[in-house]
Order: sequence, then structure tokens, then C-alpha cells
Amino acid sequence: MRFYIATDHAGYALKEFTKDYVREKGHEIIDLGPDSADRVDYPGFAKKCANAVVADRGSFGILICGTGIGISISANKVVGVRAGLCHDAYTAWATRAHNDANILCFGERVVGKGVVESMIDAFIDTEFEGGRHAGRIAKIEGCSLGADLN
Ligand code: RB5
Repeated sequence: MRFYIATDHAGYALKEFTKDYVREKGHEIIDLGPDSADRVDYPGFAKKCANAVVADRGSFGILICGTGIGISISANKVVGVRAGLCHDAYTAWATRAHNDANILCFGERVVGKGVVESMIDAFIDTEFEGGRHAGRIAKIEGCSLGADLN
């Protein structure tokens, strides 16, 4: 699998650890910044990663900020992105199995390194279940298009 990763300053310290773990698992990871822990705004880095994932069909992303909230909200503004904010292995499993998430988001101020490993394991090892979830995924894009979703 190919991953793109980006953070803000509040997620920067976990970036190298996360990159190393993804590589140890045998996957590619491309760092879209930032290059230091200097204060930056998360929407720009969310957008870089979101655009890369949408442009590179079949790829995935990892986004980290302090809570994971701002960076996931930002990424989800990009059409074609399904960024799941996760807190543990269960939510990382569910966001792949049920939401077909293409970006895993988490908060450096929320989770420890062991939880990061367990989320990455679950995210990588889980396939989208399709079935009843497929129609719901199709409706997600409709949320920003004013479609009748009932
Ligand atoms: C930065 O202080 C923090 O607000 C940001 O990383 C993130 O948690 C926002 O949702």
C-alpha cells in the first residue's frame, strides 16, 4: 500500500514514529510535511494529503494534529476523501470496514504509540465490507451536492 502523511505542529512529534511503523510493515509512506515542529495551520497540510490521496487512486493517507479533529474536518472537505478520526483499533477497523476510509486521522495529544501501532495494523489489515455499507458511501458525496439522501 502507498500512504501519504501530513501533520500540523501538534502532530509533528508522532510523524517519524508513524512513518517508521508503516515502513516496518512493508508499505510505502510519503511525507508531505511539515519539516519542523514550528507552528503551522492544519488545513493546508490536510489539503495536501487529501489531494494526493484523491489523485493517486488506491492510495491512503495518515493525518495527525493535536486532537485529530481539525485535520480530519479539513480533509473531509475534499471530494473523494473519507477521513476517519480514530482513537483505537476498533475505530480504525470500523472506518475501513464500514466507511471505506482512505485517510486515517488521530490526535497526538490523545493516543500513545502503542495505540498508534494498533490503529495502523487494523487500518492496513481491514478491507471495506461493501454490502449494506456501499450505498451509504455513495450517499456521502451527495451530502455536499444537496442531493435528496432519503
Ligand atoms: C493546535 O493547537 C490544535 O488546535 C490542533 O492541532 C488540532 O488539535 C485542532 O483540531
